[in-house]
Amino acid sequence: MIQAPRGTFDVLGEEAARREVVEAHAKRILEAAGYERIETPAFEYTELFARGVGEATDIVQKEMYSFEDGAGRSLTLRPEGTAPVCRAYIEHGMRKRAQPVKLWYLSSFFRAEAPQRGRYREFWQVGAETIGSGAPEADAELIVLVAELLESLGVKGTRLRLTSLGTPETRAEYREELKAYLRLHEQRLSREVRDRIELNPLRAFDASDPGTRSVLRDAPKLLDRLDAEDAEHFHQVRSLLEQAGVRYEVDPTLVRGLDYYTRTLFEFSSDALGAQSGVAGGGRYDRLIEQLDGPPTAASGWAAGVERMLLAAGELPTSPSLTDLYVAIAKPDGSTRAFQLVREARRAGLRAQLELAGRSLKGQLKHADRIGARYVAIIGEDSQTSLKDMESGDQRELATTNVIPTILRGSRLS
Ligand code: HAM
Repeated sequence: MIQAPRGTFDVLGEEAARREVVEAHAKRILEAAGYERIETPAFEYTELFARGVGEATDIVQKEMYSFEDGAGRSLTLRPEGTAPVCRAYIEHGMRKRAQPVKLWYLSSFFRAEAPQRGRYREFWQVGAETIGSGAPEADAELIVLVAELLESLGVKGTRLRLTSLGTPETRAEYREELKAYLRLHEQRLSREVRDRIELNPLRAFDASDPGTRSVLRDAPKLLDRLDAEDAEHFHQVRSLLEQAGVRYEVDPTLVRGLDYYTRTLFEFSSDALGAQSGVAGGGRYDRLIEQLDGPPTAASGWAAGVERMLLAAGELPTSPSLTDLYVAIAKPDGSTRAFQLVREARRAGLRAQLELAGRSLKGQLKHADRIGARYVAIIGEDSQTSLKDMESGDQRELATTNVIPTILRGSRLS
């Protein structure tokens, strides 16, 4: 038996209905704030992610599904949406539009990660990007919108962590300072952290062994090294969030797996999720468009994982897909009239289905009951039809032309 690839899943029945609820809330919340839907291709030229997401990131190093096209050019299934949206912004000359351009998407992404609960190889994100604004209000607005989305879905146990990364220049200086500090305390660090001082000193903040953690408690923090403008920007984002009543924790050790961030960085997690607790994340990326050969353009955004939101959400009110009318065929010669009746019923706004499996009349009534049909029309001789109310069990003969008006009036049959 051929199964779906490891780390992927099918979306069936009830699950599809829960996803529609996510889409409806995302659409309502984001479009009310002026975001326009965008969809980009499922694959892009690999260099977009190599340059956009960053050569040194785990995503680019280990997690991309890449393949060659017929001409030997490398393509990659998109592992994230920000670089593609920026590519589209540049390609379509969106800087000529009124700025900022606000875009949202609901798309699937692909990462070759080890599958586990909440971590898949094909997964879906709702994302929002505000391109062409450097204002702290843009960051605060984006964060408020994720908070609203999570709340509307009843995502439980959420926590928001926030920090600022400043500029790449500040970060480069800070890295040197952190390296020097780590070297000074080398003998108390874990082997792994010690070996990576030169390559990735910031990773040390992720370590769990007590020795390394005690060294890091007193380590210099990037947040204390921001220049005056970056510090002021961060201060404003924080006060806007406070005014909006969004609770957050400043976490100077917050790191995310993408290289494009500058200034504001944030992550929402949920304690209903276990190990893969990150439910949504984002930040400002003021250099990315330029890095992709566009003009200098400030921008900011986030993405929220659809599966993780659903795992951490409460009961979602989904409306069961009911059938108003089931058209049964008692005699073989009734099929043309039955076919016509379902079409007319649908045109009149009813949800109508037709017998398609050649069942006996008894079998058809049983089937109508299983799919929760409200009425069954049994096409009989000539222009007569028998209409059965499945709730009350009442049944009556009437002219086929009267079937739809009778159902629309909701009149009792007896
Ligand atoms: P990210 O943190 O890599 O950010 O992904 C955003 C969200 O996607 C995560 O918080 C998580 O809910 C979900 N997610 C990520 N990987 C997986 C996976 N393997 N399985 C299931 N869910 C997953 C980004 O992708 C950035 N593009 C966000 C952004 C937009 N930054 C600025 N603008």
